[in-house]
Amino acid sequence: MKTIRTLTIAALLLSTLQADDLAVKQEGVKYIKMLGKELKTNLKAHMKADPSGLEAMGFCASKAEAITQAVNAKLPGGVHVRRTALQTRSEKNTPDTTDIKVMQAYKAKADAKKLDPKDIQVVEKEGVYRVYKPLLIKPVCMKCHGDEAKISGDIKAVIKKMYPTDMATGFKVGDFRGVIVSEIKK
Ligand code: HEC
Repeated sequence: MKTIRTLTIAALLLSTLQADDLAVKQEGVKYIKMLGKELKTNLKAHMKADPSGLEAMGFCASKAEAITQAVNAKLPGGVHVRRTALQTRSEKNTPDTTDIKVMQAYKAKADAKKLDPKDIQVVEKEGVYRVYKPLLIKPVCMKCHGDEAKISGDIKAVIKKMYPTDMATGFKVGDFRGVIVSEIKK
């Protein structure tokens, strides 16, 4: 009888822990999608307007930060969302050690062709939860993040001028590119 009761309590505890984790995950994904959708919609529209990608490049270079700030302004207090990568283009997106650890695990999975874009990771860190979603390289990304020899001279010139420390070229379709991460205060 006693064992059964202990087991029940343990099962209950476990299920509430899992429920909490799930709630954080769902909340985090909601914020990630807000930023992801905003950037994607803009990128799509600008790539359609100018298929060379040059106009979209100028748009991303001048507006990605403002878009990120505008999305953050709409979020509840204590919540923040941003993008980062192992090989960054913008120094403003530089990762910290926790980001690097999570991303190295994602990269290993992607290199083994086993990364699911829905592989959400939740990490607890100094009073906050972090929720990570991986981004994979798709064909549309290649004009600005693909093989340097295939990136147009115009786009390369913008990259060189705006991002002298750029590391975000040389990717292939299916490669791990980076993450969107939301941070939620406990
Ligand atoms: C038209 C050019 C262009 C295309 C296409 C493009 N990007 Fe970027 N990307 C940029 C520029 C410019 C930046 C740096 C400014 C910013 O967005 O923060 C950037 C930054 C990023 C970052 C933030 C981390 C960092 O390196 O600074 C990620 C993640 C990213 N891109 C992923 C992608 C993915 C995934 C795709 C395809 C779905 C894509 N990009 C398509 C130009 C582009």
